[in-house]
Amino acid sequence: MNLSSMVDGEWIAGSGPEIVNRNPARPQEVVASYREVACDLVDLAADAAARSAMGWRRTSVHQRAAVLDGAGDLLARRREDLGRELSQEEGKPLREGIAEVDRAARIFRYYAAEADRDVGAVFASARPSERVYTRQVPVGPVALVTPWNFPIAIPAWKLAPALVYGNTVVWKPSPVTPKLAVRLSEVLLEAGLPDGVLNVVLGGADTARRLLERPTIRACSFTGSTAVGRSVVASAARRGLKVQAEMGGINVAVVMADADLDVAAQAIVQGAMGSTGQKCTATSRVLVDGAVHGELLERIVAGCRALRVGDPLDADTDLGPVATPGQLQTIRAALDDVGGGRSRVLLDGDPARDPSAGYFVGPSIIDDADGRHRVSAEEVFGPVVAVTPVHGRDAAFAEVNAGEFGLSASVFTTDLATAELAPECLDVGVLHINSETTGAEPHVPFGGMKASGWGGREQGRAARDFYTETRTVYVS
Ligand code: UN1
Repeated sequence: MNLSSMVDGEWIAGSGPEIVNRNPARPQEVVASYREVACDLVDLAADAAARSAMGWRRTSVHQRAAVLDGAGDLLARRREDLGRELSQEEGKPLREGIAEVDRAARIFRYYAAEADRDVGAVFASARPSERVYTRQVPVGPVALVTPWNFPIAIPAWKLAPALVYGNTVVWKPSPVTPKLAVRLSEVLLEAGLPDGVLNVVLGGADTARRLLERPTIRACSFTGSTAVGRSVVASAARRGLKVQAEMGGINVAVVMADADLDVAAQAIVQGAMGSTGQKCTATSRVLVDGAVHGELLERIVAGCRALRVGDPLDADTDLGPVATPGQLQTIRAALDDVGGGRSRVLLDGDPARDPSAGYFVGPSIIDDADGRHRVSAEEVFGPVVAVTPVHGRDAAFAEVNAGEFGLSASVFTTDLATAELAPECLDVGVLHINSETTGAEPHVPFGGMKASGWGGREQGRAARDFYTETRTVYVS
């Protein structure tokens, strides 16, 4: 399938280098190919978003909500087909692919309903004949830059609020998953989105850089790695753009001696291995009280051994392949880095050395991991979990806060005092007590601190704050 970019409602093939994307489970099978956009098409897309801006912001909010509702309905109707395409393009198991499409549908419907909420406040005035009020106005046109690991849900949670609050958009999806981006764009057009309101440019880092330099772009929301996110934030700052970046994470599960170890182990296995570990919220480290280290480890090992690695389209597959051959190399390098002191690779997921048979890798567990190793200090983005014994709550909490990242964490405990203290003490954006580190609900703020996040939360009401500006109006 040959893909095109979309500018002002027209599908236009790029004129840059050709990119061929393969099914990560069967790399001999081409999923899609496209030519990257050249600069001129990026410029046209930004111009189209600017031209359409006033018309779109002046439509009735109910008209915009109807488009989102329509998109939600279409996604729900096509869940199986889109879930399968997602699985073939990204590699996650079919049931996770379908669940992601369901999630996107829910997000569109949620923001359609948000349209009916208040969009301002009324204030008293110093002068008797004057009224003062605020109204939230669109911040855009906005640039959206999205990753491959949730190729439909993350775009949905940026696009839906951007559109419902009256912004026009230029979207640069990940070059690894352009097909799902095209599918989602088709759904929005079919649901009645006017031409020019959404423009899609298929390309890589140069395309994103060009887009951020366009003078008509006023804000950018990005999800991806910390290195890229920081360069997006820096270039946005140079131009004075409003910017939001959701970046990497090394998410820690703290297991106290009083925890229910079955609950903890199950949540850790799911949190570390779900989507083959390719979530920014995935559990990467476990800090376990020394008193229950052995017992917990036994359960984690048993849980990991029970997982089936295989064809993502098979119903009983738990771990599909990783999305790219590069991911396999990163995982191998992280495992090879383990050693010295007591650290050891307890379970080796054996990343495929010959990627031509599929980018498969099983669960890996590092025991007695040293905080200096790559697995504990850098985001591996694979099915790898590093377990380190600690002594007591204070040491565990201090170790969590010593990390560079601050996206999510879990604390497993049956002690109410610890459960109450954790939200007070841990420097993370999302904290789970007795549940896995992953997950995000459409109506709840999501995002991280430190190297994990910049520029405020996503989703829920937080999205309104990002996709709008406050205008204060004095009427005399
Ligand atoms: C989830 O845990 O379900 O890129 C969502 C990511 C995050 C989203 C995680 N921005 O993995």
